[in-house]
Amino acid sequence: MPYPVYIFDAYGTLFDVHAAVRRYAEQIGPDGARLSAIWREKQLEYSWVRALAGRYKDFWQLTEDALETAFALVPTVDRSYRDDLLAAYSRLDCYPEVPSVLRTLSEGGAKLAILSNGSPAMLEGAVEAAGIGSLLDAVLSVDTLKTYKAHPDVYDLVTGQFRAFPDAVSFQSSNRWDVAGATAFGFRTVWINRAGMPDEYPDLAPAAVLSSLEGLEAL
Ligand code: LAC
Repeated sequence: MPYPVYIFDAYGTLFDVHAAVRRYAEQIGPDGARLSAIWREKQLEYSWVRALAGRYKDFWQLTEDALETAFALVPTVDRSYRDDLLAAYSRLDCYPEVPSVLRTLSEGGAKLAILSNGSPAMLEGAVEAAGIGSLLDAVLSVDTLKTYKAHPDVYDLVTGQFRAFPDAVSFQSSNRWDVAGATAFGFRTVWINRAGMPDEYPDLAPAAVLSSLEGLEAL
């Protein structure tokens, strides 16, 4: 493999954050997609505010808080789905190409890990549900630092874990802001632009852009 270490963001990159609402799409009705989008936006906003304010709450709690806000902003969705949605979120689907791409990289001799805002418990649930645990050398959570991406200390967890310089690490995320943080830290970055979003952060550009993880091993 071209890089000795491949690091993956979890939510949005390996695991589909909209799969929870999609599982209840019929019952929830036409405003489900808006609820899901706000749920994700608020979850991320809360992580940035809490990191900057020094008021850490773990990512599972932020996920619960964000869902409350999403229900308040989309009152047409029946709140009685709260517990079902949270249960689904704790066992999200992974994107279809994830297991085979991880296997190819791992068989090529690369070290693989997740680096995520997720709490250790929620990451454990997601990894187990996706059946990818045996392909990962580590699951690194910000929880050990009590802050969030894009703080450089978070990306530094990787260099500590693998005793590698940043430029030996290929970092993959579907979140453009996370790619910006990882680029600033010094990783080779690949933006997994699943949603076909316009580029941002022009001064913190990824080395490559893919529409899914497919083809990563060839970069
Ligand atoms: C994560 C969030 C950013 O997994 O999706 O770290």
